[in-house]
Amino acid sequence: MDITCTPEEQYLFDLIGATAQEMQMDSYLIGGFVRDKIIGRRTKDADIVCLGDGIDLAHAVAKKLPHRPSVNFFKNFGTAQFKWHGFEVEFVGARKESYRQHSRKPEVTPGTLSDDQLRRDFTINAMAISLNKADYGKLVDPFNGMQDIEDKLIRTPLDPDITFSDDPLRMMRCIRFANQLGFTIVPETFEAIYRNRERIKIVSAERISDELNKIMMTDTPSVGFDLLYRSGLLKEFFHQLTDLVGVEYVDNKGHKDNFYHTLQVVDNVAYRSDNLWLRWAALLHDIGKAPTKRFEKGHGWTFHGHDAVGEKMTSKIFRQLKLPQNEKMKYVAKLVALHLRPISLTKEDITDSAMRRLLFDAGEDLEDLMLLCESDITSKNKQKVKRYLENFELVKKRLKEVEEADKMRNWQPPITGEEIMQLFNLPPSREVGILKTAVREAILDGIIPNEYDAAHAFIIEKAAEMGIKK
Ligand code: CTP
Repeated sequence: MDITCTPEEQYLFDLIGATAQEMQMDSYLIGGFVRDKIIGRRTKDADIVCLGDGIDLAHAVAKKLPHRPSVNFFKNFGTAQFKWHGFEVEFVGARKESYRQHSRKPEVTPGTLSDDQLRRDFTINAMAISLNKADYGKLVDPFNGMQDIEDKLIRTPLDPDITFSDDPLRMMRCIRFANQLGFTIVPETFEAIYRNRERIKIVSAERISDELNKIMMTDTPSVGFDLLYRSGLLKEFFHQLTDLVGVEYVDNKGHKDNFYHTLQVVDNVAYRSDNLWLRWAALLHDIGKAPTKRFEKGHGWTFHGHDAVGEKMTSKIFRQLKLPQNEKMKYVAKLVALHLRPISLTKEDITDSAMRRLLFDAGEDLEDLMLLCESDITSKNKQKVKRYLENFELVKKRLKEVEEADKMRNWQPPITGEEIMQLFNLPPSREVGILKTAVREAILDGIIPNEYDAAHAFIIEKAAEMGIKK
């Protein structure tokens, strides 16, 4: 088997093979590294399987390497790992696995190379390359993974019901690989995902989200999300998204399918940006549409307030999927909340103050918001899309002009809460908040200029109205 390796990889594999032979065990490269080398994808780590103790082999190899790397090992799992030249190598002894009903953690016993290959998830991930003197470089491919790579197919080596029931995370991996590699899942394997979908419940939310993020980072995440939906998996852990599926008709009036519209928006964003969280904002931008959907006689379908509802749902969904509860979540929630604003500015007669407000509310995320909104234009009518995009350019231009004149982004009103307290000798209180908001609103509405003196005069007047004396 000819695969192209870097000189460092070659040196390392030769050394592993020779060391294992000295220890009288066979060793093989296996799994994702072999798959990706054959396909020609970038590889980042390699798995070595040996017919003996993987931890002993890792230590023996590390000892011989220049700048001896330190070995991390896990006695319970019988695995060891080190990093060398920025490249991670993991060692494990060939094993047999048997699973129990309620756990992803198998009982493990030593096995042969074939046992080890049989326990792996997909034929394309079960190929091994020998590092042994007698047949160095030979491909050991008992399930015809090579043919499946050629045909771009994903299938399990065992009966898929067993493979998926043993470790239900593999159902997510299956779809993720199909999406990442542009492969097709064979019908027998895909149908087994549907049958075993409820088993996903034994997988932690962190692991599910890890796979979701990998799907999200592909070139066309819609492919993965569509497979997740059609296999029944998505509904098991993310029903808010599948609640968007479908078109309803009343009085012959339908609305668009908000699930497939959403996927189109995610693809559009993915085409324009590698920002994972901006892609999440695309996925969630219309999430509030299912709970706000109404049919109003004379108006048709409405989704009033879906932006604000979506903003609230974002933090809940992030919690449910164990995604970060930090500024990333706030960023996604903010974009969901604001996603209708730029498009509403494409109408005529929009005042500078509306522009100013958007600049203030979006702050440093304005470019991302504009990118999301442009991606949200998914009409099939080319004329309509062209018109929208042209209007959008005008909005961008005006936003730029207003920003240059007023510097509203990252803006703070010229009078702080502290100053208001000092000025009127007030303790922290509701009154201070009211005065602070009033001055901010007056500036945003263009009633007074964005200057200290004007703000000072305004606040004195406002305070007097409220019966507060200096
Ligand atoms: N594997 C498996 N079942 C899993 C996880 C992994 O059978 N749930 C096996 C597969 O043979 C896989 C190998 O372990 O190729 C290494 O797993 P991992 O590093 O997680 O995945 P890769 O296939 O290397 O791909 P990626 O790094 O893209 O996840």
